[in-house]
Amino acid sequence: MNERDLDIVLYGATGFVGELTAEYLAANSPDSLRWALAGRNPEKLTALRSKLAKANPALADLPLIAADAADATSLEEMARSTRILISTVGPYALYGEPLVKACAENGTHYLDLTGEPGFVDEMYLKYDATAKSTGAKLVHCCGFDSIPHDLGAYFTVLQLPENVPITVESRVRASGMISGGTFYSALNGMGHAKQTVDAVRERLKREPRPEGRKVGLVKPGLRRDKEMGMWTAPLPTIDQFIATRSASTIDRYGPDFKYGHNYAAKHLPTVFLGTAGVASVFVMAQIPPIRKGLLKLIPPGSGPSAEKRAKSWFRVEFVGNGGGKTVRTAVSGGDAGYEETSKMLAESGLALALDVTPERSGQLTPVAAMGDALLERLPKAGIKIEVVERS
Ligand SMILES: NC(=O)c1ccc[n+]([C@@H]2O[C@H](COP(=O)([O-])OP(=O)(O)OC[C@H]3O[C@@H](n4cnc5c(N)ncnc54)[C@H](OP(=O)(O)O)[C@@H]3O)[C@@H](O)[C@H]2O)c1
Repeated sequence: MNERDLDIVLYGATGFVGELTAEYLAANSPDSLRWALAGRNPEKLTALRSKLAKANPALADLPLIAADAADATSLEEMARSTRILISTVGPYALYGEPLVKACAENGTHYLDLTGEPGFVDEMYLKYDATAKSTGAKLVHCCGFDSIPHDLGAYFTVLQLPENVPITVESRVRASGMISGGTFYSALNGMGHAKQTVDAVRERLKREPRPEGRKVGLVKPGLRRDKEMGMWTAPLPTIDQFIATRSASTIDRYGPDFKYGHNYAAKHLPTVFLGTAGVASVFVMAQIPPIRKGLLKLIPPGSGPSAEKRAKSWFRVEFVGNGGGKTVRTAVSGGDAGYEETSKMLAESGLALALDVTPERSGQLTPVAAMGDALLERLPKAGIKIEVVERS
C-alpha cells in the first residue's frame, strides 16, 4: 500500500465538518504526508484549497479529486489512489455504501463519522469478509459518535486488574448545536427504523461471539448518581454497540465485561423533556412530507458558528469496577459535534497513516483499529483523558 500515490484522501471536504477536518489536517499534518481533498464539486474544492493555501502556501498544489457518490467508477479510482480514505459524506445510509465497497475490495483503509447503527450493521454484513480478505480496515464512528465513549471505556479498563470481570458505566453531558448534515442523518435514520432493526437483528444472528468470554450491556434504568449529584438515564445510541464490540475484539476487557451508556442531567424534568422531544421528532420522521419539511429547519451544509462552537463543551464520565477496585475516569473537551469531531477524525486518519497499529482488518471499532495510538494522540490535540479517582 505504501506504493500508492497518496496517504490520505479526505472525501466530503467541502461539507461543514469536512472543511473543519481539512483545516485541522492542513494545520497538523507533517510536511511528508501525501494527502488530497475530494468531493463532488470541483469549484468548491478549488475554493477550499485556496483558503487553506492562504494559511499555508505549501498547500497551493494539494491534489483535488472530483468524485460523486453515485459514480462507482470515480469512487473506485479514488479508493485505489490512496492508503486511507476519510469520508464525511452523509447521511451514510444514503451515500455511504459504494465507497465502503470500493475500499473493502481495493484494500483501502476507510474511516467515517457515521452514528447510524443500521448503516454500520449493513456494511458489516456485506463487506466485513471482503475487507478481511484484502486487509482493509473499515472503521466507522470516528467522531463524537463514538470515540470518547469507546476510548474512555478502554482507558477505564486499562486502569483495572487483568483477567477479572469488569463493569464500566458512562454518563455523558454536552452543550452545543447540531449541523444540517447531522440533522439530516438523524431524521433519515429515524424515518427508516425498520431497516435499522432488521440489520441489527441479522448481524446479531451472524456475528461470532468471543470465545470463552462474555460481553454484554448493563441493565438500563433511571438512577440518581449521588457522587455526581445528577440523574442518569440510558442513551440508546450506537456508542454502546461500539464499546462492546471493542470488548469482544480485545481480551484485556476480561472474561465478563459489561458496559452501560447513559446521559446525565441535573433535574429529573430535563430527562423527561429530552426523552419526549426525541420521541416527538421520531414520530414526525415517520411521515415523509413532514420529514422533508423538518429538513428545512437546519439545511445540509450549515452548522453552528465559530462563536457558538467556542462556547460548547462535552464531558463523559466513567465508573469502572473490577477485581475489588473502582476507578472514575473522564474524557472531556470543547465543541463535541464539530471542533472535536473533526480533530478525532483527522487524528484517526493520521494514526492509521503514521503510527504502528494492530494487524487487524475487516470492520473494526476505533479502539480495535487504533485505540493505543488515539490515547497518545488525542490528549496532545487538546482532548483530556484522565483518571479522576481510584478506590
Ligand atoms: N457522529 C458524529 O459525531 C458526527 C459529527 C458531525 C457530523 N457527523 C456526520 O457527518 C456527516 C456530514 O455532516 P456535515 O454536517 O458535514 O454535513 P454537510 O455539511 O451536509 O456535508 C455533507 C457532505 O456530503 C457531500 N455530498 C452530498 N451528496 C454527495 C454526493 N452525491 N456525492 C458526493 N458528495 C456528496 C456534500 O458535498 P457538497 O459540499 O458539494 O454539498 C458535503 O461535502 C453527516 O452524516 C453527519 O451526521 C457525525
